[in-house]
Amino acid sequence: MARILVVDDDRETQDLLREVLTDEGFEVTTSGSGEEALKIGEQESFDVIISDMKLGPGLDGLDVLRAYKAVQPESEVILITAFGSMETAIEAVKAGAFDYLSKPFKIDEVVLQVRRALESRELIRENRNLRRQLGSQVQLASLVGRSPAMLEVYKTIAMVAESRSTVLIYGESGTGKELVAKAIHHNGPRAQQRFFPVNCGALAESLLESELFGHVRGAFTGAVENKRGILEEASGGTVFLDEVSEMSPALQVKLLRAIEEQEVRRIGSNQIIPIDVRLIAASNRVLSQLVEEGKFRADLYYRLRVVEIVLPPLRERAEDIPLLVEHFLKVLGRERNRTFTISPPALSLLLGYSWPGNVRELENTLEAAVALNRTGVISADDLPAKIREASQDQRRPDDLYSDLPTVDELERRYLLHVLKITGYNKLRAASIMGIDRKTLYRMAERHRMKI
Ligand SMILES: Nc1ncnc2c1ncn2[C@@H]1O[C@H](COP(=O)(O)OP(=O)(O)OP(=O)(O)O)[C@@H](O)[C@H]1O
Ligand SMILES: [Mg+2]
Repeated sequence: MARILVVDDDRETQDLLREVLTDEGFEVTTSGSGEEALKIGEQESFDVIISDMKLGPGLDGLDVLRAYKAVQPESEVILITAFGSMETAIEAVKAGAFDYLSKPFKIDEVVLQVRRALESRELIRENRNLRRQLGSQVQLASLVGRSPAMLEVYKTIAMVAESRSTVLIYGESGTGKELVAKAIHHNGPRAQQRFFPVNCGALAESLLESELFGHVRGAFTGAVENKRGILEEASGGTVFLDEVSEMSPALQVKLLRAIEEQEVRRIGSNQIIPIDVRLIAASNRVLSQLVEEGKFRADLYYRLRVVEIVLPPLRERAEDIPLLVEHFLKVLGRERNRTFTISPPALSLLLGYSWPGNVRELENTLEAAVALNRTGVISADDLPAKIREASQDQRRPDDLYSDLPTVDELERRYLLHVLKITGYNKLRAASIMGIDRKTLYRMAERHRMKI
């Protein structure tokens, strides 16, 4: 219930306002002087203060206003001025009054002003929450890493953020695809609008369809009411289609149409609804390969891949590991009100590990290490056995096979070699290798080589 303080040296006005505002459902306190009003303010807080400008001897309405604005800046103050005293009224608003009422005032007018003041407070509060929310997201979107590959990623983010181009982000699990998507969103003109992540791999086809496109009541069993889809809801903002490779062929067609026409129809409805969303898609499977295998529609692939960002796995940018470690230890320490550092041997173990789960795995490893740690210095003992052992294996001096390439690596070197000696002549390269051109393309794609 909103709390209101009425300050007036005239007993009759006090009673009248108390009665009317109590009837309106407010909790009302009254006071007869500025001094008393300030004393009450030391104990209680109010949503709205209505004060007469002239309060007999001593403090006046402006003093009450200033004092309350100083200690309860969120409360709104409405001043009542004698008819025609325009100057004081202006002074009041300058000093932070929400508004003023001229005597004689109508009761309805007072109630209306109080309601407006309460609404404005609510708006301010919502705005603050929104800003806080956005602030934390921007922080979340801060990418760590200074490797050439990451610098390239930042450059692309900066270039595409301003535009509305669809972006396809490719990277192994845990490489930061969602973080990159958020960074694009937050650095672009839609930053003030919402960012909607949709995990296409986590939902059954029919559920995903209704999530994206919405439905009308009765469209299918369980559709008990009309529901707007994310593509509609996100208008003005950004939709992040995570694991887009998992989308069923039927949905791919529907999505493509929605992108091309910039409109959707809710399931069970014929009504066309225009949409205005920016799409960012992510996949940890090589989409071009899925296209070749007929598992992903080529036309949708080209629509999504207007700009492509490839996030390299962490093992290929080990130089980022120390920075990431420092970053995560800082965050983890802040959450726990402690400071953490890492011992050089422990860091070297982290540098020697292959990180199949990429940055997410590094983050989780540090979180677990911090949980066990008492000294504030993460040591090798705080790390899981697989990381300690992986590194030992590598360092074994009598390791005769450590230099042998894998079949995959061999294929990559072989391909590169043949391409070089043929001057990147694909037909000749394919013929030397004894494969057809299509297989050559596929092989190059697999090794992320541009030919
Ligand atoms: N460059 C980076 N700097 C800081 N934190 C990062 C970075 N990359 C990833 N992270 C963190 O690692 C975790 C995984 O990142 P994210 O969820 O963006 O990965 P993903 O590629 O979407 O993974 P998945 O394919 O499994 O969904 C997150 O907690 C994220 O904050
Ligand atoms: Mg993700």
